Amino acid sequence: MKSVAVLPGDGIGPEVVSAALSVLDRLDLPLLLRFGDIGWECWKQEGNPVPERTWRLLEETDTCLLGAVTSKPLREAEVELAGRLRGQGLEFISPVVQLRQRLRLFANIRPVTDLKHGRFNFVVIRENTEGLYAGLDFHGIQDPLWKEVRDHPNAAESGPASTSVTLRLQTSTGMDRILRFGFEYARRHGYSSLTVADKPNVLRQSGNHLRERLERVGADYPDIGAEILNVDAVALWMVRRPERFGVIVAENMFGDILSDLGAGVMGGLGLAPSGNVGDHGSYFEPVHGSAPGMAGQGRANPVATLLTVALLLDHLELAVPARQLRDAVHAVVLRRTAVTYDLGGNASTSQAAESVADQLSSIQAVKG
Ligand code: IPM
Ligand code: MG
Repeated sequence: MKSVAVLPGDGIGPEVVSAALSVLDRLDLPLLLRFGDIGWECWKQEGNPVPERTWRLLEETDTCLLGAVTSKPLREAEVELAGRLRGQGLEFISPVVQLRQRLRLFANIRPVTDLKHGRFNFVVIRENTEGLYAGLDFHGIQDPLWKEVRDHPNAAESGPASTSVTLRLQTSTGMDRILRFGFEYARRHGYSSLTVADKPNVLRQSGNHLRERLERVGADYPDIGAEILNVDAVALWMVRRPERFGVIVAENMFGDILSDLGAGVMGGLGLAPSGNVGDHGSYFEPVHGSAPGMAGQGRANPVATLLTVALLLDHLELAVPARQLRDAVHAVVLRRTAVTYDLGGNASTSQAAESVADQLSSIQAVKG
């Protein structure tokens, strides 16, 4: 039996996860669910948003469903820490970034589908371990980095103590891996094109490096048309002609931004699912955050988490229930009678999920 770690997290995480699990239940699959802790409460009370017991749980299970976790900048994180934990130099690192880096989940898969009219169906595959998220982010610059920076007129005027620098890490290891993943994904899912979203007209050295790797890896995939486009142009075309895209591969930060745009193109963050996958592990989460201001109201749209569960089932090679779940979600979104506020309805989180569960039962009845 496959096992799934379920980490509801905080904010609206627990609501959308419990709604999604009530639908999963209807599929009656041989899955063992094991619940664990992650997120803002763990940070406040334990000084660690991903406790050791949670890492162990992740090791012991086949994959993971994550609801949502709050991430806050440096100062806010320190202020909310329990008194006894303050002043010990504890540093808040976003739990999702920790999961992606420590478990080497290098590919972040974020499908963008037109649930209503089927006019577009592309996927953003975001590199998850390097780029601008590599952790090379400095405030107050010392040698030898300062030597590289000091000739910039603004840095010269501000001085090393008043300058910040973030490095975008691009390695052949990281780029080859994500490109190969992108091509394989394209083949497996019947896409004929792969677009790399970058900025080679400004980031000339790293951009050229990426182009060389694309040419090298792409040579193994003559059946997939590969191109590099400037990331700003990709943003424009995602809105104007989303049907032009198949697989879009982007470095971490560009992929972060493009995938929120993708969620917007789909109709909102309430709809967008994602999966984080590596050679030896995975976790699945809706693209949306924890929306603390909305927590506990039962208003959040469960669709993103439901489609996330479908991705998780695909990953566990449960393709038939994954498709049934997706079909049920599509039918409910299309009918619009039991949808949440963001889709123009007034259903609660659990009512929307219930209507997907009912739809699922009728799909199963027909098939069975
Ligand atoms: C996402 C989120 C995260 C990211 C945040 C919460 C650290 O925006 O999963 O897209 O930037 O990757
Ligand atoms: Mg994001």
